[in-house]
Amino acid sequence: MNVLLIGATGTIGQAVAQALSAQHTLITAGHRDGDHQVDLANPESIRALFEAVGPVDAIISTAGQAAFAPFAQHSDDDFQLALNNKLMGQVNLVRYGTEYLSPGGSITLTSGVLSRAPIPGSTSVAMANGALESFVRAAALELDTLRLNVVAPVFVKETMVMMGMDPTPGVSAADTAKAYVAALEGAMHGQTLDVPDHL
Ligand SMILES: NC(=O)c1ccc[n+]([C@@H]2O[C@H](COP(=O)([O-])OP(=O)(O)OC[C@H]3O[C@@H](n4cnc5c(N)ncnc54)[C@H](OP(=O)(O)O)[C@@H]3O)[C@@H](O)[C@H]2O)c1
Repeated sequence: MNVLLIGATGTIGQAVAQALSAQHTLITAGHRDGDHQVDLANPESIRALFEAVGPVDAIISTAGQAAFAPFAQHSDDDFQLALNNKLMGQVNLVRYGTEYLSPGGSITLTSGVLSRAPIPGSTSVAMANGALESFVRAAALELDTLRLNVVAPVFVKETMVMMGMDPTPGVSAADTAKAYVAALEGAMHGQTLDVPDHL
């Protein structure tokens, strides 16, 4: 399949690219790197990406920014980042991407386990994750020529190391990628794929 991978240069995205590269043809996109550049927070940039790439069999997003901060210090900008980038950026990938998708193709987004298992400091991230999972469930009811799913990663070991945390409870990026492969190659539609279910 021809797969457009947005966020391909990130921690999870690189592992997804590695997992898919033997079986599929990848077109990569990032904010600054990749075959194509896109800003999820800018709808025109997303339209320009699809225009430049043309028809594909699948779209996978391993992108989406949101900030961590204690609730009392969560700023207007922090909430807007989660809404404009992680949430609406990925929603717009679906809204604009469907017309570039081959019949029977698939779109896979990224949320995160914080939607259902939040930690202090995660209010805007958890908000965006929960909204994405609800969006996917609802939109899937009306999208009958493609499959739409969202992967909910848990803390990735490599990210935990970068943050100076003990990575023991995390899941490696390579193992996280297995849920994206399942979403791409499986038959599910409207589902949230929890990474631990696909190890
Ligand atoms: N890592 C974790 O532990 C974890 C856990 C749960 C959920 N998640 C979710 O998984 C996703 C990926 O996480 P990650 O840790 O792999 O992130 P990451 O390493 O920071 O990589 C982010 C990727 O997104 C791209 N990107 C950044 N800003 C963008 C923008 N405005 N428009 C388009 N692309 C943009 C980056 O491109 P450039 O490299 O070109 O800047 C990069 O390819 C995020 O939605 C995150 O919330 C991650």
